[in-house]
Amino acid sequence: MAAFKRDMSMSSLMDRVFGSEADNAVVKDCTSLLEQQAVMYQAMLAGHEAVIRETQAVVRAREETVREREAVVREREAVIDALRAGQNTRSLIAPADSTGADLPAYISALLPQLEGWCTLSKALWLVELVSNMSGTRIGEIGVYGGKSLIPMALAARNRPGAMVYAIEPWSNSVAVEQATSAENDQWWREVDLNKIKLGFVSAVMDCGLAGVVKLIELPSDEARCAFQAMRGYRFDLLHVDGSHAEGQALTDVKDWLPLVAPGGILVLDDIGWETVTKARDYLRATCDVIGEVIEDKNVSYGAYRTRPAPRAQEFKTETWANMLSEVLA
Ligand SMILES: C[S@@+](CC[C@H](N)C(=O)[O-])C[C@H]1O[C@@H](n2cnc3c(N)ncnc32)[C@H](O)[C@@H]1O
Repeated sequence: MAAFKRDMSMSSLMDRVFGSEADNAVVKDCTSLLEQQAVMYQAMLAGHEAVIRETQAVVRAREETVREREAVVREREAVIDALRAGQNTRSLIAPADSTGADLPAYISALLPQLEGWCTLSKALWLVELVSNMSGTRIGEIGVYGGKSLIPMALAARNRPGAMVYAIEPWSNSVAVEQATSAENDQWWREVDLNKIKLGFVSAVMDCGLAGVVKLIELPSDEARCAFQAMRGYRFDLLHVDGSHAEGQALTDVKDWLPLVAPGGILVLDDIGWETVTKARDYLRATCDVIGEVIEDKNVSYGAYRTRPAPRAQEFKTETWANMLSEVLA
């Protein structure tokens, strides 16, 4: 009896210390559950850490963008300050009588202050064309800093209703949309066209041309569609000095020519460039050559007069006469 009691208390003691087999199974289950949960939480933690790392990378990239944009803003502020400072030292106020004898002297002093390629002799040649043309509607494709447009606008500004359209996107990507030469394209990829545009706008204001010059900040193809939509609009003089890529130069001449009034003038720049030859030859074949100037291997330009459209009456008479002779034959 005593031995039995001892065995009983021994087994309950063992149960208490080590648990029953059933309890052991429960403990095992709980342990593996906890282990599974721990693995799951670790995986979740690793996932969250990856998201945090990605978010930190995005934040860093955005901070970098903000820094870059701040640098651009600082640069532009510096340009504006420089332009304002320039205004105080430059004397760009155009003479009141801009068609007078003092205009060439004024342009000769002004030209070195403008960005671009137009030489003084070309600027004065353009002034001469504008002064002698009939009409008031002028356009320029490819304005850059206004070195050729501003002299034309000065010559035109005293005519009632004079309007000079500045067609220029000031966009690096548009400038290299069609290839010219590797060196030329690289230059156009890098030049700060925003700075050039600011200089142009500032010069237009300084020269008192704000009421005459109208900005069309578009590539020439898009600007052409806008002018075509203004049915019947015709330029009296159009200066084509945009992209010098072969295809675009030809398009700018071929597709814009119908927008020049009959008897109007189309001026083409760089007629000596190999890539501009097709455009020049198209004008030679379809217009009357007013004059072609080769200053040197880098500077050349030509002016071409569009032929008057056949008069409707003449056309009709001739057509009727032809039809009549065909019927009688
Ligand atoms: C040679 S620069 C003009 C120079 C200016 N006429 C002068 O005499 O100083 C050519 C200009 O054409 C612009 N251009 C390039 N592709 C163009 C396009 N598809 N439409 C209009 N302008 C374009 C360029 O941005 C550039 O400012």
